[in-house]
Amino acid sequence: MSLIVMIFLLLLTKVTSHCSSPSGIYLMHRGECYPNGSYFHDVAIETHHLMCVATGSTLNGGQWVRAIDGDPVTCHSNSDTDPFRCDSLASPNASLSLYLPNGQALLPEREGFYKCCLPTDCSDSNTNSITANIFRWAQIAEIKFELLSDMTMLPQQYALHAIKIGQKNHAFLLDATWYYEAGDTSSNLTSVCNQQQNNCTVGSGVLLHTINGTYDYN
Ligand SMILES: *[C@@H]1O[C@H](CO)[C@@H](O)[C@H](O)[C@H]1NC(C)=O
Ligand SMILES: *[C@@H]1O[C@H](CO)[C@@H](O)[C@H](O)[C@H]1NC(C)=O
Ligand SMILES: *[C@@H]1O[C@H](CO)[C@@H](O)[C@H](O)[C@H]1NC(C)=O
Ligand SMILES: *[C@@H]1O[C@H](CO)[C@@H](O)[C@H](O)[C@H]1NC(C)=O
Ligand SMILES: *[C@@H]1O[C@H](CO)[C@@H](O)[C@H](O)[C@H]1NC(C)=O
Repeated sequence: MSLIVMIFLLLLTKVTSHCSSPSGIYLMHRGECYPNGSYFHDVAIETHHLMCVATGSTLNGGQWVRAIDGDPVTCHSNSDTDPFRCDSLASPNASLSLYLPNGQALLPEREGFYKCCLPTDCSDSNTNSITANIFRWAQIAEIKFELLSDMTMLPQQYALHAIKIGQKNHAFLLDATWYYEAGDTSSNLTSVCNQQQNNCTVGSGVLLHTINGTYDYN
């Protein structure tokens, strides 16, 4: 069992096919639609507002709340304990933005899932809701692996891909280790990556290509 490829995609994964949901509520950021539970880097919603949209409904309140405790976001004020702002739009569809004003810090205890309720407030059991995770620094968005087409070949090698989203360069984010976990035991598959900027190398460490902030090593 060996690890041959590790890829860090340092771009937000774009998802285009979820604009219509059965309940008619969706998330949109920079013109792309995102499914329920999508992750957004705090810096990304500073420059471009995250939109929560409910198609074909009439705005009658609506709100963002912190999912863990239902603490409402106060739209037109912001502070370290209530960092977000939001604006509502009645047409063409009921929608509610969510954003961080320039320079507003997101404290660690304020990152996590936020729920948007439209066209009415979250206290209305008939409202529609969708959640977004607003995170600081970085998150692993996805882990996938590629099996060989010939499963009978030995030794088996396969490629693992970890998709990281969020900040690109911070020194805290340059260490990476792959583990294999089975039940309660966990074994360390790789050495810790080197600390160079954007160069988290595992395996033979050959840089395959660099495209728009995507670093692909073999
Ligand atoms: C409003 O909803 C319609 C479908 O009901 C959709 O075609 C249109 O793109 C939506 N507009 C916005 C700004 O989301
Ligand atoms: C999103 O997920 C939450 C919790 O899992 C659920 O209550 C809500 O209805 C979902 N919304 C949509 C649009 O799927
Ligand atoms: C994993 O193995 C590498 C190489 O032996 C070692 O440098 C690293 O500290 C290990 N990591 C952990 C968390 O044990
Ligand atoms: C990544 O690190 C390796 C080993 O230290 C080095 O040879 C390579 O030039 C670095 N690549 C980049 C893009 O910095
Ligand atoms: C890199 O990003 C630019 C601007 O977003 C885009 O026009 C271009 O097609 C991208 N290139 C690749 C190879 O993805």
